[in-house]
Amino acid sequence: MKKISSLILLFAGAGLLFGTILQAQVSPRSRESFNEDWKFIRYFNASNEAAASDKEPKGLEAPEFNDSGWRDVELPHDWAIEGPFNDTLENNTGLLPWKGIGWYRKHFTINESDRDKKIFVDFDGAMANAKIWLNGNYVGEWPYGYTSFRMDLTPYISYGKENIIAVRLDTKNWDSRWYPGAGLYRNVWLVKTSKLHIVYNGLFCTTPEIRKERAVLSVDAEILNDLKEVIPVTIKASVRKLNRNNSFPDGDVAGSGMVMGEIPVASMRHFRMDITVREPVRWDIENPELYAVKVSVYRGDDLMDEYDTDIGFRTLDFTPRDGFLLNGKRVEIRGVCNHHDLGALGAAINTRAIERQLEILKEMGCNAIRTSHNPPAPELLDLCDRMGFLVEDEAFDAWRKGKKKNDYNKLFETWHAEDLRALVRRDRNHPSVILWSIGNEVPDQDNPALSTALHNIVKSEDNTRPVTAGCDRDYSGTNGFQKTLDVFGINYRLYRYDAFFELSENANLPFHSSESASTISSRGEYFFPVKEGDPGSDPQGKSTFQITSYDLAHPAWATTPDQQWALMDRIPAVFGEFVWTGFDYLGEPTPFSEDLSGLSAGSKRYETMKVRLDKMGVAEIPSRSSYFGILDLAGFKKDRFYLYQSRWRPELPMAHILPHWNWPERKGQVIPVHVYTSGDEAELFLNGKSLGKKKKGQYEYRLRWDDVVYQPGELKVVAYKNGKEWAEDVMKTTGKPSQISLSADRPEIKADGKDLVFITARIEDKNQLMVPGSSNKLNFIIKGPGMIVATDNGDAASHESFQSPAKQAFNGMCLVIIAANKNATGEITVEARSGGLKSGSVTINLYQTK
Ligand code: GAL
Repeated sequence: MKKISSLILLFAGAGLLFGTILQAQVSPRSRESFNEDWKFIRYFNASNEAAASDKEPKGLEAPEFNDSGWRDVELPHDWAIEGPFNDTLENNTGLLPWKGIGWYRKHFTINESDRDKKIFVDFDGAMANAKIWLNGNYVGEWPYGYTSFRMDLTPYISYGKENIIAVRLDTKNWDSRWYPGAGLYRNVWLVKTSKLHIVYNGLFCTTPEIRKERAVLSVDAEILNDLKEVIPVTIKASVRKLNRNNSFPDGDVAGSGMVMGEIPVASMRHFRMDITVREPVRWDIENPELYAVKVSVYRGDDLMDEYDTDIGFRTLDFTPRDGFLLNGKRVEIRGVCNHHDLGALGAAINTRAIERQLEILKEMGCNAIRTSHNPPAPELLDLCDRMGFLVEDEAFDAWRKGKKKNDYNKLFETWHAEDLRALVRRDRNHPSVILWSIGNEVPDQDNPALSTALHNIVKSEDNTRPVTAGCDRDYSGTNGFQKTLDVFGINYRLYRYDAFFELSENANLPFHSSESASTISSRGEYFFPVKEGDPGSDPQGKSTFQITSYDLAHPAWATTPDQQWALMDRIPAVFGEFVWTGFDYLGEPTPFSEDLSGLSAGSKRYETMKVRLDKMGVAEIPSRSSYFGILDLAGFKKDRFYLYQSRWRPELPMAHILPHWNWPERKGQVIPVHVYTSGDEAELFLNGKSLGKKKKGQYEYRLRWDDVVYQPGELKVVAYKNGKEWAEDVMKTTGKPSQISLSADRPEIKADGKDLVFITARIEDKNQLMVPGSSNKLNFIIKGPGMIVATDNGDAASHESFQSPAKQAFNGMCLVIIAANKNATGEITVEARSGGLKSGSVTINLYQTK
């Protein structure tokens, strides 16, 4: 192995590191982004089934195939997010043309000097049914679109010459209950290693002992010897604390270890060592302190491989009656479920977009994420580690019995063990991951033996975390299925809690609400009279396809947040909840998800559906994204944000009034006013006149003045806590739209084409008050080296393209997402114009690296 002598350094502390002073060598391992310069084409566009030119030709994997006419794309790429929305497609998957066959090809060179190496491509996810060829040779396949997987290209590489990788994806034969996206929608990596290396996801760090004065870090490395001789190896590991921003190792080595052994020819061996770390700093949700572990593999003095992972020292205890303990202290799980799409960006993963979501959730007091209902992008878990979120990491939405014709049920027999192992092996070093969920509402809840089999697969890869599942069958808490889990999860079904707890055999089973609420609303919409419960097939907002935002509407199986909390407060053994959902997502626009697509005319189901649509007075329903979010699809706060904040951040003085106070057509009529506050009491004033003080009773979480008679002017609430003034909120009747204000979520972004700035446009009156109901069409104009990546307004029924630089505001707000050109310098100015309104603008500075 060649040593790079110019890089010989005596790094400070190296002596402490391994007991000897070593020369720093460069590891043969490299991992580079493989996202650039792909060619793309798609066939069988679901919107255009009939077109002959849309048929997939043969031989697209052949090296000699001329792909110059294909579209240039950079990954991550979701081929369907550009739409257009199409009413004849399924509402439940977003009215977007994601079904089809997609081909990607990339030309690349591997140098002669890499001849002794292994060459891999790591896909963080490929939607779906991926098949991969290199230089015309079939390399392999991975059907489940959410799993991260590795392909070994080594046998087919042409060294020193051009290589062509071809990937075929097929979403035509995939069914989903939500928008799955389509394409190479996650990051792809080119990885090179020596033939002696730590295998894919083959490093597992656990912390069998954590005490104040010391912790034991146990490192298990799976090393493959792909050489033609027995190799004696030395494995060294070191651990260092990361700095406060968790961005680089800081300070001395906190612990190190070494182990030696031999690996037979063409074999894999585990090497284990225990490392003592003095005075470990704990990872928790307030101070997510991380350590960096580095494992080096030597053959003699030659460095053969080096592998890094971040870890955290924390203990998890799920108790049956005292809840969940993180580092010995009770932490109530205040979680949300999220699907993987990023709204207007579609399924194409973007780290900043996920980070923004987490920032907003943190502001609400959310401390946990359930990755419903599939393995997440790895970037989500990195961010959760760094930002202090707990994660319920979920594998499947179906097992052997499906929910849709071509969902996971088609893959289950052949792939479930592979997919489950891949998830656990990839994610098991993340301190944020606290639970493995093997399934959501799987129809196999009548099959405890199957659940046991999945449970055992997880345990064989990680026995440090409990296994759970989101259950929705009335019997699953009592039929023995529950005993196959370490932690029980129930979705909704408040009426089943008592039965679960009454059963003596459940006495040792920790319990949580794996899915709660499913309250529905559209930001800024209010309908009268205020109704509670299931809006059924005849919702109030059917002419606009919106749902009232009093946070009392929910489908039949669901509840209000208030009902969930009343039960959790009555039964404190419930260790927390995951609300459905943090953000609105593409697809599943319940209760507007009925549609005729996919049904044969004349069938019984078709006729029933048609009657419902006729009753609503529409041929097809325009809704294409959900109403379940606490935040809308653009990431704007609905009223419910403040309801959750009032409970989840009790120490934060806050009060929030709803609805808005612009009701010219309802003068003299009743407009109920609700107040969400972290206080316990509040007084409401209309134009200075008190409408009385109200106090929260037991199991009450909002204050209601249900008979306020509307007069324009000012509503003001003064909230109290323990008898002392605590917080205020004011809601004023506004004037007409007069100007646009723009505000950016950050003043500067990195000029790498990936970092994003999220700019909120508000339509305001002349006193800077946002005008409720305003829907002016905005034109976004960008000056400087950047681009408009997407626009959105949070309207679940809008069919305007997410890529359009012009968009109608929805209830006074609109979002524009901007990226800077790669390597640009200077600044970008974004302006929003609309006829009759004063324009708004905002300037963003660019930086290269920090
Ligand atoms: C649940 C299901 C979720 C979503 C939700 C809507 O039963 O697990 O995926 O469909 O209902 O309320």
